[in-house]
Amino acid sequence: MVDLEIQDGVAIVTIDNPPVNALSEGVRNGLSEAVQKADADDSANAILIICSGRTYIAGADIKEFGKPPTGVSLFDVHDAMEGASKPIVSAIHGTCLGGGLETALCCHYRVAVASAKFGFPEVHLGILPGAGGTQRLPRIVGVEKSLDMMVSGKPVNARFALENGLIDEIVDDLFEGGMAFAKKAGAESKLVRVRDSSQKLDEAKADPELFDRFRKKIARKARGFDAPEAIIQCVEDTLTHSFDDGIQAERERFMTLVSGAKSEAQRYYFFAERQANKIPDVPKETETIAIEKVGMIGAGTMGGGISMNFLSRGIPVTIVESNQEALDRGVSVVRKNYMRGVKSGRITEEGVDQLMALLTPSLSLEDLADCDMVIEAVFENLDLKKEVFTKLDGIVKQGAVLATNSSALDVDAIAAVTQRPEWVLGTHFFSPANIMRLLEIVRAEKTSKPVLATAMGLARKLGKVPVVSGVCPGFIGNRILFKREVQADKLIYEGATPWEVDEVIYNFGFPMGPFAMGDLAGLDIGWDAESSRGETEIRHKLCELGRRGQKTGSGFYNYDPETRAKTPEPEVEKLISEISGNLGATRREISKEEILERCLYAMINEGARILEEGMSQRPSDIDVVWVNGYGWPVYRGGPMYYADTIGLDRILAKIKEFQAQDNDDFWQPSALIESLVSEGKGFKDMA
Ligand code: 3HC
Ligand code: NAI
Repeated sequence: MVDLEIQDGVAIVTIDNPPVNALSEGVRNGLSEAVQKADADDSANAILIICSGRTYIAGADIKEFGKPPTGVSLFDVHDAMEGASKPIVSAIHGTCLGGGLETALCCHYRVAVASAKFGFPEVHLGILPGAGGTQRLPRIVGVEKSLDMMVSGKPVNARFALENGLIDEIVDDLFEGGMAFAKKAGAESKLVRVRDSSQKLDEAKADPELFDRFRKKIARKARGFDAPEAIIQCVEDTLTHSFDDGIQAERERFMTLVSGAKSEAQRYYFFAERQANKIPDVPKETETIAIEKVGMIGAGTMGGGISMNFLSRGIPVTIVESNQEALDRGVSVVRKNYMRGVKSGRITEEGVDQLMALLTPSLSLEDLADCDMVIEAVFENLDLKKEVFTKLDGIVKQGAVLATNSSALDVDAIAAVTQRPEWVLGTHFFSPANIMRLLEIVRAEKTSKPVLATAMGLARKLGKVPVVSGVCPGFIGNRILFKREVQADKLIYEGATPWEVDEVIYNFGFPMGPFAMGDLAGLDIGWDAESSRGETEIRHKLCELGRRGQKTGSGFYNYDPETRAKTPEPEVEKLISEISGNLGATRREISKEEILERCLYAMINEGARILEEGMSQRPSDIDVVWVNGYGWPVYRGGPMYYADTIGLDRILAKIKEFQAQDNDDFWQPSALIESLVSEGKGFKDMA
C-alpha cells in the first residue's frame, strides 16, 4: 500500500490504496514506516509524498470508525512527519480531504495540480477534523475561513488554496512538479511547521465578535447537528489554548461525536447514498448511450428546472411547448433563474447568454427527432402523457431514451403506447429541479438495462443522487408522503392543531411540518372548484376561501407579506373543528408522542410495503429518497434506519394499537415487518 524509493536525493513515498487512498490501517502503518526510513536514509535530503490512482488521500477510512483502533495511530504518523529532520513535501491531486488534508498539513510544504480540491467534509459524517485539522487550518488560512471550510464541509480549489497559503505552489505535472519542489526544499533544508505559526490567530484576536457572528450565520442550517458547534469550539481553542492542549480538546470532542448516534446515522447515510448507485442485475460495465442532445416537453415549473441541469453542463436542450405564451414564459423563467447567479457573482451576464444559447425553444415535437433523450414534463394526466408518448414514438430516432417526469403515474402504461417500451423509463426530478439532488429513476417493467444504466450515469453527471424505484403510485417518496399526509389530516380532525403537528415534525428535525409544507407547495394542487369538498376536507375549504397557501398570503397560516413569517390562524382551528363534526370524529387532546408516532410509523409501514413489493431495491434506498427529497434529518439516518433504532417490535406493537383504534385498514401491518419481528431482525438485516 505504501512504497518507498529514492531518486535524485528525494525519498519518494507512494501511497496506493484504491479507490480513494483512504488512511486505512495498512496505509498508516506503511506511511509511518516509510517516513521513518526515509528520514534516516542519508541518500535523501527531502521526502515527497504522492498518491497513485485518481486522488491524494481522501480521508480516514470511514469503515474503521466505531471499531477498536488497530495499527499505528494517525497522530503517531503525523508526529513522525512533522518532526522529521528533512523537509517533507506532499504532491496533491484529486480530492485532498479530511484526514488527507490533515496529513498534508503535517508536511512542511504542499504543491498541487490546478484541478485539486481541498476540504474538511467531516461535518457531513457528524464528526470534526480529529487529527489536528481544527488546530492547524486556522493557523494557515485564518479563523473565519477555517470556520467556513470546516462547518460547511465544502472543498476549496487550488487557486483559493494557493492564495490562502494552504499550498505553496500549483504545478503542471504532479510528479515532475513535486520532485522539483522537493529537490529545492531539500537543498534549502528549511522546515516549516504549521503548528508553529501564530500570525493568523493574532489577527482573529482583534475581532472577538467573530464567533458569535458565525454561530448566528449558521444557526438555521446547523439546527439539530452536534458537529458544527464542536468545530467552532475547537477553533475558539486556537486563540486560548496552546497547540498541544488544543489537540487534546479536539481529540476529546472527536471521540464524543464519533461514538454518538448522530454520527453513526450520518456515516450509515454516506454509504447508503453510494449503495443506491448499485443495481444488482445491471453491472457497472453495462453499455450506456451517449446523451449529447436533450429534448424537453413542457416548459412549466419542472420543464424549465430540468432543462437547466443540462444547460449548466453544456448539453443543448430543445424545449417544446403547446403554445407560444407558455413557451416564452418558460424560457424567460430559465433566464431569470440564471440571472440570479449574476447578482450573487456566480456567473457573468455573458455566461448566462452562452447557457441560453444552448436552449432552443420550439412549438413542434418534430424538432425532437434527433435527440438522444427526451424528457416529458407536461401536466400530470395519464391520457395526455400517453398521447405525447404515442407521438414521440413516431418522431424520435430509434436508440433514444424516452423519459417521463411524472410524479406518480403508471410508467408501464405510458411505455405501453410505444413500439419501444424498453427505451422508456421515469426520471422523477424534485422541485426546484435545478437545485434538488434527488432523482427517482423509475424502472418500468420493460426498461432495458442499458437505458437504466444510462439514466443512472446521467444523473451522477448532473450531480444528482439517483435512486431506483419500481412502478407504483407515487413511486417511493410520494407514496410514503401520502401516508404521512393521511395521518396528519386525521390528527387535526381528531383534536390536534396544525401548529402542534408541524411543531412536532419540525422538532424531530424536518425543515417544516406537513401543513407549512402544504402552504408552501400551494393548497390548490389537484384542487378543483367544481368538485371541491369543503364540508369534509380542510384543504378544500381553505381553497374555497381563497387561502391557497403562501402565494396568496394565507393558507393554514397567515404570512407576513414582507418577512413571510408565519402565524397560526385561529379561524382555521374553528373550520377544522366544524369539519370534524361533519365527519363524526371525536375530538380529544393528542400527545406529542402520539403525533410523532402516527406520522412516522405510517411512513415506516408504507416503506416496508414498498420493500415487500420489490418497489425499492433495499431499505437504505428509501432512506436516501427521504433524506434528499423530503428533508428527513440526516442525523436520524432515514425512516428505515430510524425504525431499526426504535426497534421493529416496538413499532409493530404501536401499529397494532393504532389499528385497534381505527375502523379502516390503514394500519394493517406490513407482512415484512411482521416477519422481521418474528425473526428478531431489523431492516438492516435484509441482505
Ligand atoms: N473511507 C472509506 N471508503 C471511502 C471513503 C473513505 N473516506 N471515501 C470514499 N470511499 C469509498 C466509497 O464508499 C466508494 O465505495 P464503493 O465503490 O464500494 O461504493 C468508493 O470509495 C468511491 O467513492 P465515491 O463513489 O464517493 O467516489 P467519487 O469519485 O464520487 O468521490 C470522494 C470521491 C470525493 C473522495 C468521495 O468518495 C468522498 O467524499 N469521500 C469521503 C471523504 C471524507 O468524508 N473524508 C473524511 C473522512 S473522515 C476523516 O478523515 C476523519 C479525520 O479527520 C480523522
Ligand atoms: P406545469 O403546469 O408547471 O407545466 C406543465 C407544462 O406543460 C405547461 O407549461 C403546459 O403548457 C405544458 N404542456 C401541456 N401539454 C403539453 C403538450 N401536449 N406539449 C407540450 N407542452 C405541454 O407542471 P409542472 O409542475 O412542471 O409538472 C410537470 C410534470 O412534472 C407533471 O407530471 C408533474 O406531476 C411532475 N412533477 C411536478 C413537480 C412539482 O413540484 N411541480 C415535482 C415532480 C414532478
